[in-house]
Amino acid sequence: MTLANILNMMTKPRWGLGMLGTKRRGFRNIIGHVKGIEDMGSLSQWTASQFDPTLDWNDVEWIKKRWGGKLILKGIQDVEDARLAVSAGADALIVSNHGGRQLDGAQSSICALPPIVDAVGKQIEVHMDGGVRSGQDVLKARALGAQGVYIGRSYIYGLGAMGQAGVTKSLQIIHKELDTTMALCGRTDINTIDKSILLPGHYPA
Ligand SMILES: Cc1cc2nc3c(=O)[nH]c(=O)nc-3n(C[C@H](O)[C@H](O)[C@H](O)COP(=O)(O)O)c2cc1C
Repeated sequence: MTLANILNMMTKPRWGLGMLGTKRRGFRNIIGHVKGIEDMGSLSQWTASQFDPTLDWNDVEWIKKRWGGKLILKGIQDVEDARLAVSAGADALIVSNHGGRQLDGAQSSICALPPIVDAVGKQIEVHMDGGVRSGQDVLKARALGAQGVYIGRSYIYGLGAMGQAGVTKSLQIIHKELDTTMALCGRTDINTIDKSILLPGHYPA
């Protein structure tokens, strides 16, 4: 809290009163269920302890066997890891830098996508996320070979603005934009989308 925050909040009494009436949120699926986790402080220690630095590609194969269902690996950013994902038996991979929150300076997903599609696109489904804010972004990812596209912040912005209805609204907006952009590109079937809708020289190759 800074003086600027406090002054800013004082100019928004309706919002402030509304916030006073909201429930306190916590991680109720973990706190009180996992032994020894009673509050947010012990939760962050427990979260840190969940990261296993010895995890390797053999563990991915092991998980795939034990799980028995479809396995999607998220966070692939280069061709070498994409090939390893295929060898480990993954059914799909998500080209992702986790929304740019892990490593400053990591390349964008849209730049990482084309070489990965070229290398393994025939062996495994390639999806992507990161920076998708509009239906046009979905279409660009699709044009560069992504068979699936995910969103993170876009629906969270909707949630913050209008709650559950905002999540629905954000999906509707993206859907509508995708539809309109396809029409303006002269396409009616998402399966016909490829690089030919992009301006030559203006997209990552
Ligand atoms: C607040 C926040 C928390 C996230 N936590 C995780 C996480 O625990 N594990 C993970 O794989 N990705 C996490 N992500 C990344 C998202 O799964 C997703 O890859 C990313 O948000 C996509 O980029 P976008 O937000 O630009 O759409 C998080 C993203 C945000 C914004």
